This record gives sequence, structure tokens and C-alpha cells, in this order.
Amino acid sequence: MKMAPGAVFLIGFMGAGKTSVGRELAHRLGWRFVDLDDRVVAATQRSIAEIFAKSGEPEFRRHESQALHELIREISSGVNTVAALGGGAWCQPQNRLRIQELGAPVILLDAPLATLRARCAAEGKQRPLFADEARFRQLYEARRAEYTAATVKLDTEGKRVGDVVEEVLRSLQVGSF
Ligand code: S3P
Repeated sequence: MKMAPGAVFLIGFMGAGKTSVGRELAHRLGWRFVDLDDRVVAATQRSIAEIFAKSGEPEFRRHESQALHELIREISSGVNTVAALGGGAWCQPQNRLRIQELGAPVILLDAPLATLRARCAAEGKQRPLFADEARFRQLYEARRAEYTAATVKLDTEGKRVGDVVEEVLRSLQVGSF
């Protein structure tokens, strides 16, 4: 069996299950779990909805990139981490480059648009980019090509969190990381 890498990044659209899968995966690996959105909230002392509403998306993206930069520094210094990224983080080229330079596996959690929308609607998390259905669909289409650069792609449709975690673990064991 190959050595486990020091980090796993979970990417995918809003509602893909990155946080739930990430928490359980971290538990199984005995690693810490970091949700990048939580890092932004902690650093700014503002909710993501508030940053979007009062300062705009570009300001949110700056905070997000900064938080990712710090997270990568921690990982590089040897802190084993499962990281869940907000849906747009991977779609910023400079973020993608930094993660790819690290060489850690990047797992795309995918699901059909209707499923993602239903999951977001059912969750309590406030998502500024969820409210407008046309925008949600447009973003989903626009990001698909970028998401395909992930090292592993997993369909989460109709699966329980534990099943997806098992699939991630299997892909880490057989993957060439
Ligand atoms: C965003 C997704 C959100 C959060 C922010 C922007 C996006 O995270 O980062 O609202 O651009 O897709 P989740 O993917 O965890 O919902």
C-alpha cells in the first residue's frame, strides 16, 4: 500500500457534501479537518453572507485565497489535514496552482444539479450564490471543466456520507500520489 499523503482536498459545487465527507474522512484517517469557509469567518470575524453583501465577492475571494495560503503553509510544515474547500475556491487559478504544487490528492465530489440544489435548500448554511436559481445553474455549468482537473472524481448521488468516505479511502490507497 502506498504512503498516505499529508493532505486531502475535497472540492465540488455547493451541496456536494465536502464538509460532511471531510469530517468523517478526517476522523477515519486520524487527521484534523479544516473547512476553508470557517477559516475565512474566523479570520474576518464576519459571516460569508455579510462579506458578500457588504464588500462583494472579490473581497470574499481575497480572504479565501489568503486562508488557503495559510492552510497550505501549515500542511507544508507537516500538519496532516483533510480540507474542504468552498465551491469556488478551486476555480481561482492561483488557488488551483498552489494546491497542485503541493501534490496532494484533490477529490471532486459530484452530483447532478437538482440534487445539489435540493441539498443546499435542506441545509442551514447561508449561501449567497444559492438564492438565484439561474445563477446557480450557470455557475455549475461554468465550473464543470475546472472541476475535472481533480485527481479523483466521485459521484455522490444517492450515497450515504459513510459510503463516499469509503470510496475516498479506497481511491487514496490505489491512487498514485
Ligand atoms: C461558494 C461556496 C460556498 C462558500 C461561498 C461561495 C461558491 O461554500 O465558499 O458561499 O462560490 O461556490 P460551499 O461550497 O461549502 O457551499
